[in-house]
Amino acid sequence: MDHSYASSQEIKSYLSAVTFHYGIDKYISLRSQVTRAEWCELTSKWTVSVHGQGDFECEILVNACGILNNVQYPRIEGVDCFKGPLLHTAAWDENVDLGGKKVAIIGAGASAIQMLPVIAKVAGSCDVYIRTPSWIVPPAGGDKKGNFEYTKEDKERFQNDSEFSLSSRRKMESEFNSMYPAFMKDGEAQRALRTSLEQSMKGLLRDPALHDKLIPKFEVGCRRINPGEPYLEILQERHVRPIFEPIDKITSDGVVSGGETRRADIIITATGFDTSFTPRFPIIGREGRDLRELWQTDPISYFGLAVAGFPNYFMFLGPNTPISNGSVMGTLEATSDYFVRLLGKLMREKASSVEVREEVQADFDAHTQDLMQDMVWTGPCRSWYKGDDGKVRALWPGSSLHYREVLACNRWEDFKWKYRGNRFAYWGEGLSQVETSVDASDGDFAYYMEQYAPLPLEAYYLAAKGWTTKNRVSKSFRKGCNEVVLGDESEGSMIEPPSVVSV
Ligand SMILES: Cc1cc2nc3c(=O)[nH]c(=O)nc-3n(C[C@H](O)[C@H](O)[C@H](O)COP(=O)(O)OP(=O)(O)OC[C@H]3O[C@@H](n4cnc5c(N)ncnc54)[C@H](O)[C@@H]3O)c2cc1C
Ligand SMILES: NC(=O)c1ccc[n+]([C@@H]2O[C@H](COP(=O)([O-])OP(=O)(O)OC[C@H]3O[C@@H](n4cnc5c(N)ncnc54)[C@H](OP(=O)(O)O)[C@@H]3O)[C@@H](O)[C@H]2O)c1
Repeated sequence: MDHSYASSQEIKSYLSAVTFHYGIDKYISLRSQVTRAEWCELTSKWTVSVHGQGDFECEILVNACGILNNVQYPRIEGVDCFKGPLLHTAAWDENVDLGGKKVAIIGAGASAIQMLPVIAKVAGSCDVYIRTPSWIVPPAGGDKKGNFEYTKEDKERFQNDSEFSLSSRRKMESEFNSMYPAFMKDGEAQRALRTSLEQSMKGLLRDPALHDKLIPKFEVGCRRINPGEPYLEILQERHVRPIFEPIDKITSDGVVSGGETRRADIIITATGFDTSFTPRFPIIGREGRDLRELWQTDPISYFGLAVAGFPNYFMFLGPNTPISNGSVMGTLEATSDYFVRLLGKLMREKASSVEVREEVQADFDAHTQDLMQDMVWTGPCRSWYKGDDGKVRALWPGSSLHYREVLACNRWEDFKWKYRGNRFAYWGEGLSQVETSVDASDGDFAYYMEQYAPLPLEAYYLAAKGWTTKNRVSKSFRKGCNEVVLGDESEGSMIEPPSVVSV
């Protein structure tokens, strides 16, 4: 990586190297668009249709279609009449040359903030249409500013000094992971963060008139916060113009806002994605229910990874997973680990299907929405984290670390497990894994016996004399969590033998 913010090409080349190195490329079929998936109750299998390739059967279907890739162009009058190139940040045309051109950018979210400093370097002029400003935070995890370039020495150190590499990454991740308390409405941490960001943004915005326009009125975090100090700086350059009047319409050669037409050669829409969670192809579960219809108005899931009525169907980053505070990678790892454990149980026990219980899913939804009332995400801003009805659908009711902790427990009781026959049939002839697998036993069939400290002779002595554990505490000895309390020596209480002794 050359820069602290890796480019899309760098990320792509890294992912290609990962798939090659770990030999997973052979399992990946590129250019394969799934167009339909249907559950069959009889066979307990999914049939997945792939465009131009036919139908495939599988026992488990994992949907990893992502939530930020269904490009959304703005719904603005005349948008189709524009004669020049109309780009979207996530539908880029490398052939469009921006050099010296009049560029109009619509949007002021993470994509616009990340893109502007790069575009402004080559464009002749940039008009940036800002409907809602974003909170701008300093860069995370480093002392250097903005998108700095790694030196040759930096890169060598990352390569050769694994401790330095790990501690640098940990520092960054830790900073993000510690932010959750700041997202509690009216909390101390929110107030402190707000004050400090107001100050840092004012410091970067030379013209006080811009303070009112670019410093949000809503809570920090209500919509995504952005490391974007270069964005604020570049917005004030001579050839860059922030425009705050709403767009009236788009014409064949420009954008009309506040009654004024500004010419543009190229329009870049940084207007985000369809984040409705509605699947883009039919997913037909039990009793012929289509997830697209079920989720049309209110997508509810279990922990963002399963849905009632859709057995053996799992997903990454479904409704209400932690996507707000920091990297999603840790979250995705936690979800993957959970899936591996769940599938391990399913396969080991030869279960034919597993489906989350509807009432558990409903409880999760109710708890989530209850908690959200105290979080900044239900604040007075527009954001893709919530629907038009104000319901927060994109975020987990807790921190990323909390999500990891929750998923570290199996919670198999939240699911309905079905078996083809007797649920214990997989026991077979009753041999343990240790007995059937040489690797597992290593020839040791008493592996469970552990080193214990011998009982103190005192215990033998006192027990033989008829001492009991009933009376007052005078002496105790511990083993693990259990405690044996001996009788009161001073009183020499010789009572009847104890009814219960827990060791
Ligand atoms: C500009 C941008 C920057 C981001 N930066 C960060 C960041 O710095 N850190 C971070 O943690 N997150 C970031 N994110 C969030 C990012 O989306 C996720 O972290 C990450 O990409 C999620 O991975 P994913 O595999 O779930 O989804 P995706 O990366 O979106 O992958 C989904 C894949 O499914 C494919 N697909 C969709 N529908 C079908 C279908 N019907 N059939 C077959 N394939 C299909 C898509 O083509 C795509 O290849 C960023 C998002 C954007 C848009
Ligand atoms: N490096 C990163 O980590 C990174 C970078 C980019 C994106 N992302 C991820 O992708 C998500 C989406 O970011 P995004 O910026 O692409 O989308 P976004 O956050 O949804 O922002 C879309 C922007 O377009 C504006 N907009 C939409 N329609 C408009 C219209 N008709 N007129 C004027 N403005 C209009 C919105 O204004 P309103 O707010 O007023 O609606 C908003 O400013 C982020 O939240 C983040 O999770 C991450």
